[in-house]
Amino acid sequence: MQDFEAIARPGYAHRHLLGIEGLTPAEIETLLDLAADYAAQDAGAHQRSPLLSGHTVINLFFETSTRTRTSFELAAKRLSADVINMSVTWSSIKKGETLLDTAMTLNAMHPDVLIVRHPESGAVKLLSEKVNGAVINAGDGSHEHPTQALLDALTIRRRRGRLAGLTVAICGDILHSRVARSNIHLLTTMGARVRVIAPPTLMPGGIERLGVESFMDMREGLRDCDIVMMLRLQTERMQGSYVPSIREYFRFYGLDREKLAMAKPDALIMHPGPMNRGVEIDSSVADDIDRSLIQEQVEMGVAVRMACLHALVAGTRTPVRAEG
Ligand code: CP
Repeated sequence: MQDFEAIARPGYAHRHLLGIEGLTPAEIETLLDLAADYAAQDAGAHQRSPLLSGHTVINLFFETSTRTRTSFELAAKRLSADVINMSVTWSSIKKGETLLDTAMTLNAMHPDVLIVRHPESGAVKLLSEKVNGAVINAGDGSHEHPTQALLDALTIRRRRGRLAGLTVAICGDILHSRVARSNIHLLTTMGARVRVIAPPTLMPGGIERLGVESFMDMREGLRDCDIVMMLRLQTERMQGSYVPSIREYFRFYGLDREKLAMAKPDALIMHPGPMNRGVEIDSSVADDIDRSLIQEQVEMGVAVRMACLHALVAGTRTPVRAEG
Protein backbone atom coordinates (compact mmCIF):
# COMPACT_ATOMS: atom_id res chain seq x y z
CA MET A 1 0.00 0.00 0.00
CA GLN A 2 1.11 3.52 -0.79
CA ASP A 3 2.88 5.66 1.81
CA PHE A 4 0.32 8.48 1.89
CA GLU A 5 2.29 10.46 4.48
CA ALA A 6 4.81 11.53 1.92
CA ILE A 7 2.23 12.98 -0.45
CA ALA A 8 0.09 15.47 1.38
CA ARG A 9 2.10 17.72 3.58
CA PRO A 10 4.48 19.39 1.13
CA GLY A 11 1.56 20.59 -1.01
CA TYR A 12 -0.75 21.84 1.74
CA ALA A 13 1.04 24.00 4.27
CA HIS A 14 -1.93 25.62 6.05
CA ARG A 15 -2.88 24.97 9.66
CA HIS A 16 -6.62 25.01 8.93
CA LEU A 17 -9.01 24.44 6.05
CA LEU A 18 -11.42 27.37 6.31
CA GLY A 19 -12.27 27.90 2.66
CA ILE A 20 -11.25 27.33 -0.93
CA GLU A 21 -10.73 31.04 -1.61
CA GLY A 22 -7.00 31.72 -1.61
CA LEU A 23 -5.87 28.13 -2.17
CA THR A 24 -3.53 27.67 -5.11
CA PRO A 25 -4.18 25.24 -7.98
CA ALA A 26 -1.29 23.12 -6.64
CA GLU A 27 -2.82 22.94 -3.14
CA ILE A 28 -6.22 21.95 -4.54
CA GLU A 29 -4.56 19.38 -6.80
CA THR A 30 -2.66 17.95 -3.82
CA LEU A 31 -5.88 17.42 -1.85
CA LEU A 32 -7.69 15.96 -4.87
CA ASP A 33 -4.83 13.58 -5.68
CA LEU A 34 -4.68 12.36 -2.11
CA ALA A 35 -8.47 11.96 -2.03
CA ALA A 36 -8.32 10.01 -5.30
CA ASP A 37 -5.84 7.63 -3.66
CA TYR A 38 -8.15 7.19 -0.67
CA ALA A 39 -11.12 6.63 -2.99
CA ALA A 40 -9.22 3.87 -4.77
CA GLN A 41 -8.25 2.32 -1.44
CA ASP A 42 -11.80 2.51 -0.11
CA ALA A 43 -13.18 0.76 -3.19
CA GLY A 44 -11.27 -2.23 -1.83
CA ALA A 45 -11.75 -3.57 1.65
CA HIS A 46 -12.40 -0.48 3.81
CA GLN A 47 -8.93 -0.88 5.28
CA ARG A 48 -8.02 1.20 8.28
CA SER A 49 -4.90 3.30 8.29
CA PRO A 50 -3.13 3.98 11.63
CA LEU A 51 -2.26 7.51 10.44
CA LEU A 52 -4.32 9.37 13.07
CA SER A 53 -4.00 6.83 15.85
CA GLY A 54 -3.74 8.73 19.15
CA HIS A 55 -5.30 11.84 17.59
CA THR A 56 -8.65 13.28 18.67
CA VAL A 57 -11.16 14.69 16.19
CA ILE A 58 -14.21 16.59 17.41
CA ASN A 59 -17.25 17.13 15.18
CA LEU A 60 -18.90 20.33 16.43
CA PHE A 61 -22.11 20.96 14.51
CA PHE A 62 -24.31 23.97 15.26
CA GLU A 63 -26.55 23.11 12.28
CA THR A 64 -28.10 19.87 11.09
CA SER A 65 -26.15 17.61 8.75
CA THR A 66 -26.44 14.09 7.37
CA ARG A 67 -23.69 13.77 4.77
CA THR A 68 -20.93 16.03 6.12
CA ARG A 69 -21.04 14.97 9.76
CA THR A 70 -21.34 11.25 9.00
CA SER A 71 -18.60 11.23 6.39
CA PHE A 72 -16.19 13.18 8.61
CA GLU A 73 -16.84 10.64 11.37
CA LEU A 74 -16.28 7.74 9.01
CA ALA A 75 -13.17 9.36 7.53
CA ALA A 76 -11.63 9.99 10.97
CA LYS A 77 -12.40 6.44 12.11
CA ARG A 78 -10.87 4.96 8.96
CA LEU A 79 -7.70 6.86 9.89
CA SER A 80 -7.90 5.43 13.46
CA ALA A 81 -8.62 8.75 15.20
CA ASP A 82 -10.68 8.98 18.39
CA VAL A 83 -13.86 10.77 17.31
CA ILE A 84 -16.28 12.78 19.43
CA ASN A 85 -19.54 14.05 17.96
CA MET A 86 -21.13 17.11 19.52
CA SER A 87 -24.41 18.59 18.41
CA VAL A 88 -25.95 21.77 19.75
CA THR A 89 -28.97 19.86 21.02
CA TRP A 90 -26.87 17.96 23.56
CA SER A 91 -24.28 20.60 24.45
CA SER A 92 -24.18 23.45 27.01
CA ILE A 93 -24.84 25.91 24.18
CA LYS A 94 -28.47 25.16 24.98
CA LYS A 95 -27.77 26.62 28.44
CA GLY A 96 -26.42 29.89 26.98
CA GLU A 97 -22.69 29.13 26.57
CA THR A 98 -21.19 31.21 23.76
CA LEU A 99 -19.41 29.82 20.71
CA LEU A 100 -16.04 31.00 21.97
CA ASP A 101 -16.53 29.64 25.49
CA THR A 102 -17.52 26.31 23.95
CA ALA A 103 -14.40 26.46 21.75
CA MET A 104 -12.14 27.24 24.73
CA THR A 105 -13.70 24.39 26.73
CA LEU A 106 -13.06 21.92 23.95
CA ASN A 107 -9.58 23.37 23.38
CA ALA A 108 -8.70 22.55 26.99
CA MET A 109 -9.17 18.87 26.09
CA HIS A 110 -6.46 19.25 23.38
CA PRO A 111 -8.26 17.98 20.28
CA ASP A 112 -6.05 17.68 17.21
CA VAL A 113 -8.83 18.63 14.79
CA LEU A 114 -12.10 20.50 15.29
CA ILE A 115 -14.62 20.14 12.47
CA VAL A 116 -17.14 22.95 12.76
CA ARG A 117 -20.45 23.82 11.10
CA HIS A 118 -22.11 27.07 12.12
CA PRO A 119 -25.00 29.16 10.75
CA GLU A 120 -23.00 32.42 10.85
CA SER A 121 -20.54 33.28 8.06
CA GLY A 122 -17.11 33.82 9.61
CA ALA A 123 -17.85 31.97 12.87
CA VAL A 124 -15.53 29.07 12.01
CA LYS A 125 -12.61 31.42 11.26
CA LEU A 126 -13.21 33.23 14.56
CA LEU A 127 -13.13 29.92 16.40
CA SER A 128 -9.95 28.86 14.57
CA GLU A 129 -8.15 31.88 16.03
CA LYS A 130 -8.86 30.71 19.60
CA VAL A 131 -7.84 27.06 19.53
CA ASN A 132 -4.53 25.20 19.27
CA GLY A 133 -5.58 22.39 16.93
CA ALA A 134 -6.47 22.40 13.26
CA VAL A 135 -9.95 23.57 12.27
CA ILE A 136 -11.94 22.40 9.25
CA ASN A 137 -14.90 24.45 8.06
CA ALA A 138 -17.83 22.09 7.55
CA GLY A 139 -20.00 24.98 6.35
CA ASP A 140 -20.34 28.51 7.79
CA GLY A 141 -23.52 30.38 6.94
CA SER A 142 -23.59 31.34 3.29
CA HIS A 143 -19.79 31.77 3.16
CA GLU A 144 -17.94 28.50 2.33
CA HIS A 145 -18.21 24.71 2.46
CA PRO A 146 -14.73 23.74 1.24
CA THR A 147 -14.91 19.97 1.57
CA GLN A 148 -18.15 19.93 -0.47
CA ALA A 149 -16.39 21.76 -3.33
CA LEU A 150 -13.45 19.34 -3.11
CA LEU A 151 -15.69 16.28 -3.27
CA ASP A 152 -17.62 17.82 -6.17
CA ALA A 153 -14.35 18.46 -8.00
CA LEU A 154 -13.10 14.94 -7.34
CA THR A 155 -16.38 13.50 -8.67
CA ILE A 156 -16.15 15.61 -11.84
CA ARG A 157 -12.48 14.77 -12.34
CA ARG A 158 -13.16 11.02 -12.05
CA ARG A 159 -15.87 11.23 -14.72
CA ARG A 160 -14.34 13.78 -17.08
CA GLY A 161 -10.63 13.36 -16.32
CA ARG A 162 -10.14 17.09 -15.82
CA LEU A 163 -11.67 20.33 -14.56
CA ALA A 164 -9.96 22.83 -16.88
CA GLY A 165 -12.01 23.79 -19.91
CA LEU A 166 -15.30 22.32 -18.66
CA THR A 167 -18.41 24.50 -18.47
CA VAL A 168 -20.20 24.08 -15.15
CA ALA A 169 -23.64 25.61 -14.51
CA ILE A 170 -24.56 26.16 -10.85
CA CYS A 171 -28.32 26.70 -10.58
CA GLY A 172 -30.69 27.79 -7.86
CA ASP A 173 -30.30 29.71 -4.62
CA ILE A 174 -26.86 31.21 -5.30
CA LEU A 175 -27.47 34.03 -2.81
CA HIS A 176 -27.52 31.84 0.30
CA SER A 177 -25.31 28.98 -0.89
CA ARG A 178 -21.89 28.30 0.66
CA VAL A 179 -21.63 25.34 -1.73
CA ALA A 180 -21.93 27.73 -4.69
CA ARG A 181 -19.26 30.04 -3.30
CA SER A 182 -16.73 27.26 -2.61
CA ASN A 183 -17.40 25.67 -5.99
CA ILE A 184 -16.99 28.99 -7.79
CA HIS A 185 -13.60 29.53 -6.12
CA LEU A 186 -12.42 26.00 -6.80
CA LEU A 187 -13.65 25.62 -10.36
CA THR A 188 -12.43 29.04 -11.56
CA THR A 189 -9.05 28.46 -9.86
CA MET A 190 -8.75 25.15 -11.70
CA GLY A 191 -9.60 26.65 -15.10
CA ALA A 192 -13.25 25.65 -15.52
CA ARG A 193 -15.85 28.09 -16.90
CA VAL A 194 -18.58 28.71 -14.34
CA ARG A 195 -22.10 29.97 -15.00
CA VAL A 196 -24.53 30.80 -12.22
CA ILE A 197 -28.26 30.63 -12.91
CA ALA A 198 -30.87 32.06 -10.52
CA PRO A 199 -33.92 34.31 -10.34
CA PRO A 200 -33.01 37.97 -9.66
CA THR A 201 -34.01 37.63 -5.98
CA LEU A 202 -31.51 34.78 -5.45
CA MET A 203 -28.59 36.17 -7.48
CA PRO A 204 -25.97 38.04 -5.40
CA GLY A 205 -25.14 41.51 -6.75
CA GLY A 206 -21.70 41.71 -8.36
CA ILE A 207 -21.28 37.91 -8.59
CA GLU A 208 -19.44 38.41 -11.91
CA ARG A 209 -16.49 39.74 -9.90
CA LEU A 210 -15.86 36.12 -8.88
CA GLY A 211 -15.13 35.30 -12.52
CA VAL A 212 -18.49 33.75 -13.42
CA GLU A 213 -21.18 34.49 -16.01
CA SER A 214 -24.68 35.04 -14.63
CA PHE A 215 -27.99 34.03 -16.20
CA MET A 216 -31.60 34.60 -15.15
CA ASP A 217 -32.90 32.32 -17.91
CA MET A 218 -32.17 28.69 -17.10
CA ARG A 219 -32.45 27.39 -20.66
CA GLU A 220 -29.96 29.99 -21.86
CA GLY A 221 -27.59 29.31 -18.96
CA LEU A 222 -27.63 25.55 -19.50
CA ARG A 223 -26.85 25.75 -23.21
CA ASP A 224 -23.95 23.39 -24.07
CA CYS A 225 -22.71 23.03 -20.51
CA ASP A 226 -20.86 19.88 -19.35
CA ILE A 227 -22.05 19.78 -15.75
CA VAL A 228 -25.34 20.92 -14.19
CA MET A 229 -25.06 21.48 -10.44
CA MET A 230 -28.42 22.04 -8.73
CA LEU A 231 -28.88 23.75 -5.35
CA ARG A 232 -31.83 23.67 -2.98
CA LEU A 233 -33.65 26.76 -1.72
CA GLN A 234 -31.97 27.53 1.63
CA THR A 235 -35.22 28.49 3.35
CA GLU A 236 -33.53 28.41 6.78
CA ARG A 237 -31.48 31.47 5.72
CA MET A 238 -34.44 33.36 4.21
CA GLN A 239 -36.48 35.99 5.93
CA GLY A 240 -39.55 36.60 3.83
CA SER A 241 -40.38 35.24 0.41
CA TYR A 242 -37.81 35.02 -2.38
CA VAL A 243 -39.93 33.09 -4.92
CA PRO A 244 -43.59 33.58 -5.87
CA SER A 245 -44.44 29.90 -5.23
CA ILE A 246 -42.74 26.50 -5.33
CA ARG A 247 -44.77 25.61 -8.39
CA GLU A 248 -43.62 28.75 -10.21
CA TYR A 249 -40.01 28.22 -9.09
CA PHE A 250 -39.95 24.68 -10.42
CA ARG A 251 -41.46 25.81 -13.71
CA PHE A 252 -38.66 28.30 -14.37
CA TYR A 253 -35.70 26.93 -12.35
CA GLY A 254 -36.38 23.26 -11.61
CA LEU A 255 -34.23 20.81 -13.56
CA ASP A 256 -36.33 18.45 -15.67
CA ARG A 257 -35.69 16.55 -18.91
CA GLU A 258 -36.81 19.42 -21.07
CA LYS A 259 -34.40 21.97 -19.57
CA LEU A 260 -31.59 19.43 -19.32
CA ALA A 261 -31.87 18.95 -23.11
CA MET A 262 -30.29 22.41 -23.51
CA ALA A 263 -27.01 21.13 -22.00
CA LYS A 264 -24.57 18.85 -23.86
CA PRO A 265 -26.10 15.44 -24.67
CA ASP A 266 -23.79 13.79 -22.13
CA ALA A 267 -23.99 16.53 -19.47
CA LEU A 268 -23.82 15.21 -15.92
CA ILE A 269 -26.13 16.18 -13.05
CA MET A 270 -24.93 17.01 -9.54
CA HIS A 271 -26.56 18.06 -6.27
CA PRO A 272 -24.82 18.46 -2.89
CA GLY A 273 -27.94 17.34 -1.02
CA PRO A 274 -30.24 17.42 0.73
CA MET A 275 -32.50 17.41 -2.35
CA ASN A 276 -35.99 18.80 -2.51
CA ARG A 277 -37.58 16.78 -5.29
CA GLY A 278 -40.16 18.69 -7.28
CA VAL A 279 -38.71 22.02 -6.10
CA GLU A 280 -35.26 22.38 -7.72
CA ILE A 281 -35.01 18.95 -9.37
CA ASP A 282 -37.32 16.36 -10.86
CA SER A 283 -36.90 12.72 -9.83
CA SER A 284 -36.60 11.64 -13.47
CA VAL A 285 -33.22 13.41 -13.73
CA ALA A 286 -32.07 13.03 -10.09
CA ASP A 287 -32.39 9.24 -10.35
CA ASP A 288 -31.06 8.85 -13.90
CA ILE A 289 -28.20 6.40 -13.35
CA ASP A 290 -26.51 7.40 -16.61
CA ARG A 291 -26.44 11.12 -15.89
CA SER A 292 -26.76 11.72 -12.14
CA LEU A 293 -23.60 11.79 -9.98
CA ILE A 294 -25.44 12.46 -6.74
CA GLN A 295 -24.62 9.13 -5.06
CA GLU A 296 -21.02 9.27 -6.27
CA GLN A 297 -20.69 12.73 -4.67
CA VAL A 298 -21.65 11.22 -1.31
CA GLU A 299 -19.17 8.36 -1.82
CA MET A 300 -16.35 10.81 -2.64
CA GLY A 301 -17.17 12.74 0.54
CA VAL A 302 -15.47 10.15 2.73
CA ALA A 303 -12.30 10.05 0.59
CA VAL A 304 -12.04 13.84 0.44
CA ARG A 305 -12.48 14.17 4.21
CA MET A 306 -9.82 11.51 4.81
CA ALA A 307 -7.49 13.53 2.59
CA CYS A 308 -8.22 16.78 4.43
CA LEU A 309 -7.67 15.22 7.87
CA HIS A 310 -4.49 13.64 6.59
CA ALA A 311 -3.15 16.86 5.08
CA LEU A 312 -3.78 18.86 8.26
CA VAL A 313 -2.46 16.36 10.77
CA ALA A 314 0.27 14.52 8.90
CA GLY A 315 2.88 17.25 9.34
CA THR A 316 2.96 16.68 13.09
CA ARG A 317 3.84 13.00 12.73
CA THR A 318 6.74 10.91 11.59
CA PRO A 319 5.88 8.87 8.46
CA VAL A 320 3.53 5.95 9.04
CA ARG A 321 2.72 3.27 6.50
CA ALA A 322 -0.90 2.28 6.14
CA GLU A 323 -1.76 -1.29 7.09
CA GLY A 324 -2.83 -3.54 4.32
N1 CP B 1 -24.07 18.69 1.36
C1 CP B 1 -24.19 18.83 2.69
O1 CP B 1 -23.52 19.63 3.34
O2 CP B 1 -25.09 17.96 3.25
P1 CP B 1 -25.41 17.86 4.81
O3 CP B 1 -26.12 19.13 5.21
O4 CP B 1 -26.29 16.64 4.95
O5 CP B 1 -24.12 17.71 5.55
